Amino acid sequence: MFMTRVYSFELYFLIAALALGKPRGWPIPKTHQNRFLMSNDTESPELPSFNHNTQFVRTQPPNPAYKFGDRVSQSEEGKKWMEGEKLGWKTFDSKENSRELYQLLLSGICPRPVAFVSSVSETGVENLAPFSYFNTVSAHPPTISISINAGIGEKDSSRNIKATKGFTVNIISEPWIQQANAACINSPRDVSEWVIAGLTKEPSTLVRAPRVKESAFSMECEVLTPPRFFPSRLR
Ligand SMILES: Cc1cc2nc3c(=O)[nH]c(=O)nc-3n(C[C@H](O)[C@H](O)[C@H](O)COP(=O)(O)O)c2cc1C
Repeated sequence: MFMTRVYSFELYFLIAALALGKPRGWPIPKTHQNRFLMSNDTESPELPSFNHNTQFVRTQPPNPAYKFGDRVSQSEEGKKWMEGEKLGWKTFDSKENSRELYQLLLSGICPRPVAFVSSVSETGVENLAPFSYFNTVSAHPPTISISINAGIGEKDSSRNIKATKGFTVNIISEPWIQQANAACINSPRDVSEWVIAGLTKEPSTLVRAPRVKESAFSMECEVLTPPRFFPSRLR
């Protein structure tokens, strides 16, 4: 886990959205985090075409009649929701169910924002990779957190950030979601994902790593707290 201080912002326009997941009951419902993962699935012709016309719409709350103290089961929707209780609950032991825990956490804690991280190695190889264990920690001073797991070995982004400190976090938008997804490829250390992804480098103001020109919102960052390592039970 890296806690990072944000140096400066490139802000063109920012869309804020609130979506509620339903990590409750069993089985865990699939939510639209799968939409991102499936956006590169061109081998399933039975899937409908991408809908470019979805928009965030400001609406009434689900139960406009709600008053402080009202019980969930007082609304029709709430009553149906509480029926889920009859399915029962499954308890996961973090020591015994390590593989299932990964899936459970991905499904249960979502949607998650994605930090598209641009970093650079000591020898100057530029790297791009998406990370969804990411969030805001504080606005003043601007601070975010990113968690990079050990994969087969230490990931390039983690190595680079430790070695050269400065990096950028870029927020992804729909027109270039596939380019961003392509960058999660595990390329050899000396091969830059910039070429594979087809994205444009733009020099940063304060850090060595470039920002993504296509991004509507980019942050130049430095590491604030020393990285901590969590041993993986999967290996
Ligand atoms: C949408 C998405 C989210 C991801 N989130 C994470 C994450 O939070 N932590 C992590 O370690 N890997 C995550 N990955 C996997 C990394 O992007 C992947 O391991 C990548 O190859 C790392 O690149 P690097 O070795 O060049 O740093 C994610 C991949 C995708 C497609």
